[in-house]
Amino acid sequence: MNKRQLIICSAIICALVILSRCISKQPAGGDMRGPQYAAANSCESCHKAIYDSYQSTAHAHTSGLANAQTVKGTLTAPANRFVFGNGTEVVMEQQDGRLYQAAYSNGALQQKQAFDIAVGSGRKAQTFLYWQAGKYMQLPISWFVPANSWANSPGFPADHPKFDRAIPSTCFGCHSSMVGIKSVSAQGLEMQEEFEQNKLVAGIDCQRCHGPAADHVNYQTEHPQEKTAHFMAKIGALNTQQQIDMCAVCHSGLKPMLKPASEFKPGDALADFVMPTAPFPTSRIDVHGNQLQLLAASKCFTGSKQMTCSSCHSPHKTERENMQVFSQRCMSCHMAGSPNFCTLKTVPAATLQQNCIDCHMPATPSSAITLLTNGKQSPTPDSIRTHWIKVYKEVK
Ligand code: HEC
Ligand code: HEC
Ligand code: HEC
Ligand code: HEC
Ligand code: HEC
Ligand code: HEC
Ligand code: HEC
Repeated sequence: MNKRQLIICSAIICALVILSRCISKQPAGGDMRGPQYAAANSCESCHKAIYDSYQSTAHAHTSGLANAQTVKGTLTAPANRFVFGNGTEVVMEQQDGRLYQAAYSNGALQQKQAFDIAVGSGRKAQTFLYWQAGKYMQLPISWFVPANSWANSPGFPADHPKFDRAIPSTCFGCHSSMVGIKSVSAQGLEMQEEFEQNKLVAGIDCQRCHGPAADHVNYQTEHPQEKTAHFMAKIGALNTQQQIDMCAVCHSGLKPMLKPASEFKPGDALADFVMPTAPFPTSRIDVHGNQLQLLAASKCFTGSKQMTCSSCHSPHKTERENMQVFSQRCMSCHMAGSPNFCTLKTVPAATLQQNCIDCHMPATPSSAITLLTNGKQSPTPDSIRTHWIKVYKEVK
């Protein structure tokens, strides 16, 4: 066989192998991310307990179709509106089962757009996008939970409503499992992205963290007696850094990306995805969405060498505000009665054990928030739990 025939021959073999894999590995239901992915709900049958509890998490609901059930903000008068500085009023309207934001100036309708996608689970805030000619555009007003009111969307001016802010794909990289991008082009210094309509795997699903799982689902379905996992990364077998990176790809702040976050799989390195930025003095690190850097500055982290986000967080459950549960996790290293326990003597040990968090990880007003709030515009400044674990003299 000459070289040319060899190449053709191997090309045919390759094509056949790929084709046969496609046919035999096509998962039931399928997923728009491609054949390596199983349908998003296919984990339920075998991992029911995890699947069910996961549905309650902020991750699961961090994006989705916007409708009267998923929108957390008030839709009924008089609180269903926001008045901009120039007197223009943006009002929530419902029509034929759809929701709209309509801007009125002196009673005359200026502009009106539908809610298509909600971003944010509504823990703290929710913002909304509408679809227009290949782009996701942000609606002018968002819902702010601490203020219990609608107000101009983060980064938007407070004096007049704007309907023309296109949202970049990076939003979806952290707030969804996948978004379809049709094309990317440069227009001057700005990147212009065109999205594929209706191609969004909303929310953060199992495979967003665990990686594509069609092979796992097919294998386990074909071998129901098999009690060990095949074709699935074992997170416990990853090193500490790799386990942290799985979370940090979305929790190390808003930074330029080298690759789309949605391509991250367990075992990948954060440095291959997120552009390194000059280190800040720790006191100036923004507490918004930057849990990694704050935690990394803590002695718990540097001293234990084995701390991951899972040392305190259970990835499939909502434990928010359960200070006792979190305090138990602190005490797995700082055992009551041991020399590692809290050295504060003015408070009884039993009281200390109820809540380590408010003293050592106080909720801190975020000064440099670029995304959610902006001191001047937002009705109340947001505050975020700092991950810089230390002694805060002011909470003595
Ligand atoms: C047909 C049954 C079946 C389906 C469907 C299934 N799994 Fe599994 N999976 C198993 C079995 C069996 C194990 C091994 C026992 C265990 O850890 O629960 C396992 C283990 C795992 C593990 C732990 C791996 C380890 O060893 O640490 C993860 C993660 C996982 N599955 C994720 C998923 C995801 C994500 C989906 C959906 C895309 C899914 N599984 C669908 C049967 C299934
Ligand atoms: C795909 C991006 C992404 C990944 C990966 C990710 N997160 Fe998140 N996480 C988010 C977003 C976005 C939110 C905000 C959700 C909301 O409320 O809309 C969030 C919120 C949270 C919250 C607050 C939830 C609450 O109920 O208060 C915790 C805690 C958290 N993440 C921990 C983790 C941990 C631990 C990991 C790794 C095991 C992880 N995250 C991986 C994007 C991600
Ligand atoms: C690098 C990942 C990342 C990017 C990019 C990102 N976010 Fe977030 N976002 C987060 C994380 C993480 C949180 C939760 C922060 C926390 O609680 O500390 C969050 C929180 C939010 C919340 C509040 C959710 C809630 O219910 O409390 C909204 C709304 C939001 N983001 C909208 C957006 C929009 C719109 C964009 C794009 C312009 C965007 N985000 C880009 C990671 C990201
Ligand atoms: C935010 C990221 C994230 C998401 C989303 C996620 N997991 Fe996990 N999962 C983890 C981490 C981290 C671990 C390792 C847990 C640990 O170290 O305690 C894990 C462990 C597991 C395990 C093996 C250990 C166990 O607890 O039995 C299974 C099975 C599993 N996940 C299934 C799922 C399924 C099914 C879903 C969707 C319903 C899902 N996971 C969604 C991060 C995630
Ligand atoms: C994985 C083990 C581990 C966990 C979990 C843990 N810590 Fe630590 N922590 C350490 C180690 C190790 C040190 C450093 C001790 C030293 O240097 O003497 C430390 C130090 C500290 C310090 C002193 C910090 C300083 O700057 O002097 C405080 C306060 C603290 N931890 C509180 C907490 C609280 C509160 C929690 C729970 C939210 C927690 N830790 C969870 C291991 C842990
Ligand atoms: C030592 C324990 C500990 C570790 C380790 C830890 N967290 Fe947390 N985290 C907490 C506690 C406690 C809270 C507060 C929960 C609450 O307010 O209900 C919290 C809150 C959060 C929140 C919500 C913050 C807010 O105010 O909106 C996010 C997001 C989060 N953690 C992500 C992470 C990520 C990502 C990692 C790993 C880089 C991580 N955490 C590691 C203890 C920890
Ligand atoms: C009422 C606020 C408060 C509570 C609750 C509290 N601490 Fe403390 N903790 C302090 C203060 C203040 C100090 C410094 C005491 C001193 O200077 O003697 C301290 C000291 C410590 C230290 C030693 C720090 C060092 O300098 O090495 C550790 C570790 C610690 N706390 C862990 C915890 C853990 C774990 C819990 C929960 C079981 C907890 N603390 C609950 C306020 C508190």
